[in-house]
Amino acid sequence: MIGSNAFRGKHILLGITGSIAAYKAADLVRRLKEHGAEVRVMMSHGATQFITPLTMQTVSGHPVSLNFFDADEEAAMGHIKLARWADWIVIAPATADCLAKLTHGHADDLISTVCLASEAPLILAPAMNNKMWSHPATQQNYQLLKQRGVEFFGPESGDQACGEQGEGRLMAVDAIVSLLLTKLQPGPLSGTQLLITAGPTYEPIDPVRFIANRSSGKMGYALAQAAVEAGANVTLISGPVALGTPDGVNRVDVETAQQMYDAVMQYLTQTIIFIGCAAVADYRPAHQAQAKLKKSTNNDLTLQLQLNPDIINTVANSDNRPELVVGFAAETDDLQQYAQQKLQQKRLDLIAANRVGDRLAFGQENNALEIFWEGGHKSLTEAPKLEIARELIKVITERYHAKNSI
Ligand SMILES: Cc1cc2nc3c(=O)[nH]c(=O)nc-3n(C[C@H](O)[C@H](O)[C@H](O)COP(=O)(O)O)c2cc1C
Repeated sequence: MIGSNAFRGKHILLGITGSIAAYKAADLVRRLKEHGAEVRVMMSHGATQFITPLTMQTVSGHPVSLNFFDADEEAAMGHIKLARWADWIVIAPATADCLAKLTHGHADDLISTVCLASEAPLILAPAMNNKMWSHPATQQNYQLLKQRGVEFFGPESGDQACGEQGEGRLMAVDAIVSLLLTKLQPGPLSGTQLLITAGPTYEPIDPVRFIANRSSGKMGYALAQAAVEAGANVTLISGPVALGTPDGVNRVDVETAQQMYDAVMQYLTQTIIFIGCAAVADYRPAHQAQAKLKKSTNNDLTLQLQLNPDIINTVANSDNRPELVVGFAAETDDLQQYAQQKLQQKRLDLIAANRVGDRLAFGQENNALEIFWEGGHKSLTEAPKLEIARELIKVITERYHAKNSI
């Protein structure tokens, strides 16, 4: 990426904590400066074990802040001055320990004290071993910090320095810079809370078998990415899929329709736009066997199915109804008729219908959609799912703004 001067006049205070990924912070500073930012660096004692303050001083062009009990440092740019100076505080990499300190309001080192003393938006890019990241303590800290408005970039999944694989890698420096750039040019959905469901649901028959469908989650994930690009704050409630989380998306994993329903209800009060893109199972086995069902040599097996909660219907008719409710319809025939019926019966604001059973939709890279709303219709011809998603987000944005301008 070529430097753009887009960050000209921006004061970015970069906190570095004691992760093996700290060496990437030097590149991050260089990239931020290429875009015109003024960057000051504060480092935890742990961070200085991985990268030297001299390196960070050289790339940032400013003395590094390390210790608030140091009289010379306090005289130069004290912790309160630093807290006021910052337009953004970015901590990259942010350790598990750093998340824990910030969650509990500790102020026992320079970084935690500056974060408490500053009103600047706080962005954390965590980096840690995947077990540390998935530990309930870290996950609870993560959720609490997000509820308080702290923004998270990553972490990403993949190979880790410790030799393991999983979620916990520092987001790529390029991606951090790109996300910061999108914050400068507020998109048409800037600050809007979106809740998206994606993927299939698994409805257990016994401990090893389940009823599922062919949804890959690709469309929902593409929508989440397109919504982040448009500036929205996106929570993605995902059934079991083999897809990476788009940058900047808050992903919540579920398995069954009931779990998806519960997760949606939990996020509903803060949701402005809801997009139900998941292929939620209509029915689940009425009884889930506790032990694996044995094959009988001479009898057929009959499964009794029970209705699952209708998530989109509940959302659209809830007391906490989001301002815009968007549904998906996957039909093999009479697309328009079924889609329009669903739009009215479920009181949706907009429905995106795709034809399934032929080349498109489930599992494929391309899609085509027919979009209907009261008094309007738009066809999106075949294109990669991310392109279709960006077009659909445009239509959703128009409908949302049209509704708000009434
Ligand atoms: C070689 C090594 C690598 C480490 N990498 C990480 C890491 O990636 N993420 C993390 O949360 N902690 C990591 N730690 C542990 C932290 O350095 C330790 O919890 C420290 O107290 C963090 O303090 P700080 O957040 O104030 O820097 C690592 C420790 C060592 C010895």
